[in-house]
Amino acid sequence: MSQDNEKRLAAETAAYKYVGNGHFKGGIIGVGTGSTVNFFIDELAQYRDRIKACVSSSEASSERLRKLGFDVLDLNAAGRLDLYVDGADECDPHKRLIKGGGAALTREKIVAAASDRFVCIIDATKQVDVLGRFPLPVEVIPMARSLVAREITAMGGTPVWRDGVVTDNGNWIIDVHGWRITDPVGLEAQLNQIVGVVCVGLFAKRPADVVIVGNREI
Ligand code: A5P
Repeated sequence: MSQDNEKRLAAETAAYKYVGNGHFKGGIIGVGTGSTVNFFIDELAQYRDRIKACVSSSEASSERLRKLGFDVLDLNAAGRLDLYVDGADECDPHKRLIKGGGAALTREKIVAAASDRFVCIIDATKQVDVLGRFPLPVEVIPMARSLVAREITAMGGTPVWRDGVVTDNGNWIIDVHGWRITDPVGLEAQLNQIVGVVCVGLFAKRPADVVIVGNREI
């Protein structure tokens, strides 16, 4: 099966199982960002009458949701969410993730933290034993880019500025290459301590609750 078909299948499975089929009591859904989530948003259209509104992790997803007729709320107005559905760039056997390939990591982490259940939808190419093959995205305040890069170099990583990319929050992204991340919780905490770091694309302290790969739930 092609990568796109497997993404579509994961999106269909999540929409059917967690929105269409009983689990979801009706209410507000958190929606992530990326090509897999785009399939999920398209699937949601058939369940519109069960969904009061959505909270989204990016301007791109908000626009796609609005085009399909969904109300998109600010998280402050929505309160706690039952469900958040999002993709990932890498997933280890403990459901810990690397995210942020689409530069939406900060809002993704915020919406995940505000949700009781985080369902992650991926294709099999995203599954790894140890995180780090995919460069780790770190969102930084623009004036702190070099400062943060030097700190990361001192920690043994190879920082590469994603030149030209500005996040929805007006910040910049550094992608860290060369790490085999054997202690994701520790690394997430360490990177969060660097002055100028806004958010780290490691979802280890708060991993996914459910991972769907194609039509398999793990
Ligand atoms: C967005 O910033 C990312 O975290 C995405 O969730 C991740 O890059 C997965 O993207 P695809 O679904 O497009 O592979």
